[in-house]
Amino acid sequence: MAHRIFCTRSIPEKGLALLRQHTELTVFDKDRQITKKELITGVANADALLCLLSDPVDADVIAAGTHLRVISSYAVGYNNIDIEAARSRNIAVTNTPGVLTEATADIAFALMISAARRIVESDAWLRQGKFEGWAPKLFLGHDLSGATLGIVGAGRIGQALARKAAGAFDMRILYHNRSRDEQFEADRGAEHVPLDILLRQSDVVSLHVPLTPETRHMIDAAALEIMKTTAILVNTARGPVIDEAALIAALRDGQIFAAGLDVFEEEPAVPDALMALPNTVLLPHIGSASIATRDRMAEMAARNLLDVLEGREPAHRVV
Ligand code: NAP
Ligand code: GLV
Ligand code: GLV
Repeated sequence: MAHRIFCTRSIPEKGLALLRQHTELTVFDKDRQITKKELITGVANADALLCLLSDPVDADVIAAGTHLRVISSYAVGYNNIDIEAARSRNIAVTNTPGVLTEATADIAFALMISAARRIVESDAWLRQGKFEGWAPKLFLGHDLSGATLGIVGAGRIGQALARKAAGAFDMRILYHNRSRDEQFEADRGAEHVPLDILLRQSDVVSLHVPLTPETRHMIDAAALEIMKTTAILVNTARGPVIDEAALIAALRDGQIFAAGLDVFEEEPAVPDALMALPNTVLLPHIGSASIATRDRMAEMAARNLLDVLEGREPAHRVV
């Protein structure tokens, strides 16, 4: 009998076609985020789940999936999945690292420039018909050339951003990881520093850590307080890495210059206070959203899933 797959949203055809060839595929039939209740119904008879980063794959969902052998996530971050619940049932969990590294680093790069040079704010102002000619003090921002970039979590994406920033703007690179990466230091002249030193010295702080108990609210009021008043904070990691209420206060009070955010604490909710601030650039979690990247993620998620079901070691296994 063919393996039964439940997929929580229509993903690019590259992945779906592969699954259809080899399995009995059911794709959740609504073009919206699935609810926990619908997810529980969906996994009931499934041998494998293909899920999104926004799906709450918690202990209840995993318990409901009595036939589940693999949970294949269409994402690199897997903080939405109860890994211990999966491990205890011997269910494999796979993800899609690497193929989305450049696309996500590009979005961090775009947020950095947009925030530093007030691109979105000045574009909106012009469209309101307010442009009356070149002016010496119109939308003054901050230079990136020669500035210091602090990477919090210099793994695949953080290092890709460092490479782009060092190449494009000759930026000095500081980084904070739990462990040192000597190759990265040699390649980019990057300096491994404690978080407080990184926060004090960086002109741009960009977050690339996974969301874990240790990184939740890593950027809180105390962290924001020691950043430069001219600093820019970029987050393409996960919303809860920043204490959003503290960030709103810091942006409002001029404690830092601006923030560029692709992710939010209670996604998809974005606080009105954040939207009302002129010194924010806000994106709807589009880090990996390039056509080619999403195709590669779909294919990888499908292959990981098939590998487990057909008894091969998947290329990217979390547990
Ligand atoms: P990665 O290669 O695993 O890099 C994560 C880095 O964080 C590692 O260098 C790790 O180094 C460091 N780290 C982990 N825990 C830490 C801690 N407690 N303190 C300091 N550093 C810590 O992952 P990646 O592929 O670059 O992805 C990073 C994250 O980006 C994902 O988990 C995901 O949440 C997010 N993401 C978002 C988008 C988007 O669309 N916005 C797209 C892709 C990924 P050590 O182990 O040495 O500490
Ligand atoms: C996107 O946020 C991912 O983790 O892949
Ligand atoms: C600006 O447009 C300049 O020419 O300096």
